[in-house]
Amino acid sequence: MSEPAGAGTPARIGLLGRGTVGGAFVELVEARAGAVAAASGRRPEIAGVLRRNEGDFERILAESDLIVELMGGLEPAREYVLAALRAGKPVVTANKQLVAQHGDELFDAAREAGVQVRFEAAVAGAVPVIRIVGEGLGSVVLERISGIVNGTTNFILSEMAATGASYGDVLARAQELGYAEADPTEDVGGADAAAKMAILARLGFHTPVDLADVSYEGITEISADDIAYARELGLSLKLLGVAERHGEAISVRVFPCFLYAGHPLAPVEGPFNAVTLEGPSITEITLSGPGAGGTETASAVLSDVVSILAGEAPVHTPGKRLEIARELDSSFYLHLEVADQPGVLAGIADVLGRNGISVKSVVQRGSGSDARLVMVTHRAPERAFYAALGEISGLDFMRLPPRAIRVVEKEYV
Ligand SMILES: NC(=O)c1ccc[n+]([C@@H]2O[C@H](COP(=O)([O-])OP(=O)(O)OC[C@H]3O[C@@H](n4cnc5c(N)ncnc54)[C@H](OP(=O)(O)O)[C@@H]3O)[C@@H](O)[C@H]2O)c1
Repeated sequence: MSEPAGAGTPARIGLLGRGTVGGAFVELVEARAGAVAAASGRRPEIAGVLRRNEGDFERILAESDLIVELMGGLEPAREYVLAALRAGKPVVTANKQLVAQHGDELFDAAREAGVQVRFEAAVAGAVPVIRIVGEGLGSVVLERISGIVNGTTNFILSEMAATGASYGDVLARAQELGYAEADPTEDVGGADAAAKMAILARLGFHTPVDLADVSYEGITEISADDIAYARELGLSLKLLGVAERHGEAISVRVFPCFLYAGHPLAPVEGPFNAVTLEGPSITEITLSGPGAGGTETASAVLSDVVSILAGEAPVHTPGKRLEIARELDSSFYLHLEVADQPGVLAGIADVLGRNGISVKSVVQRGSGSDARLVMVTHRAPERAFYAALGEISGLDFMRLPPRAIRVVEKEYV
């Protein structure tokens, strides 16, 4: 690629954090400086690096044209990013918790200073979903954003489905392979996916969304036999983030759920990420690809740097704050370990019927001390379903507490 006139003008990058992503970013900048110069008119160079025992933030800020924050954590990352924006320096960050928890503050500071803050790498790694939702589809009405946005949990659930191994065994393997951190709480508990869904909902629905608006559950209670039984019903288990419009309100949630085989996210396996966008004028668009990894994430960071150098300014001006809807409808998978005696099915059907829950399919397995019923309900208010679940827990033929997992209904095929 030939470089445009002036492409040698340096763009000095102050790098905060040189760990997995920061280290890969330094290599990528060296390898791709010419291509960036050709695309943007400026040649990137690393002007300074801040680590725990290296560099001085004030000095790096003074000597840089833009700041790339790859430290992680809320503080001092927040303090440094705000200081950079207020000093009129554009910022690129991969820090999902920072954007999800302090988004309003960051965007206000950027708007006031007239500079960009970009965060493509904060959601779905190398997949350019922020660019698509925030810019490419910025004028499109989105009704729903569904995402597999945590590669660790998708790897664990895929392995459990493929091998029949327990959650604990597969988590240990994921840690050995580097797909899960030594402390996996943020991933397996759903907080990581919740932060990413807050960011996507903010951009997709043009409204302020904070992490506190997102309700989330993780995968720690999932058992291998739930996955095996659900397979018989044609379902696959994912940790799904769903942001939806409900008239003038929205909901943003993360929960383990079963997807029908025809769902665009059902085939997404292993550490991959994918996001499906739905709206009246686009029907459905799905983006998928590697959701993490040093080089993959660094490539998303560099693409933000190119956009800043090329002067492409995304508009993140939030509209009015929308209500968060909490009364929602869902279908459920229900796993009941019951005594092998007459009247069990009728007893369950009675409770479900009185609460307005109808059953779509039932699988009956085992006998004696191994008898169990696995069913999928039709869509009904979650409040009614949980009321029924409470009643079922108290029935005298229940051998163990019931297990319930949401099912995303077949709307696509
Ligand atoms: N790893 C991924 O695949 C991935 C994917 C998507 C997004 N991200 C995001 O990218 C960011 C970086 O992740 P990472 O995996 O590269 O982290 P990492 O390997 O732990 O690296 C963090 C870097 O930040 C530096 N640092 C941390 N706290 C600091 C402080 N208080 N003062 C100065 N320097 C500090 C560390 O310094 P030392 O070198 O001195 O320890 C290290 O160089 C995070 O926001 C993460 O959520 C990561």
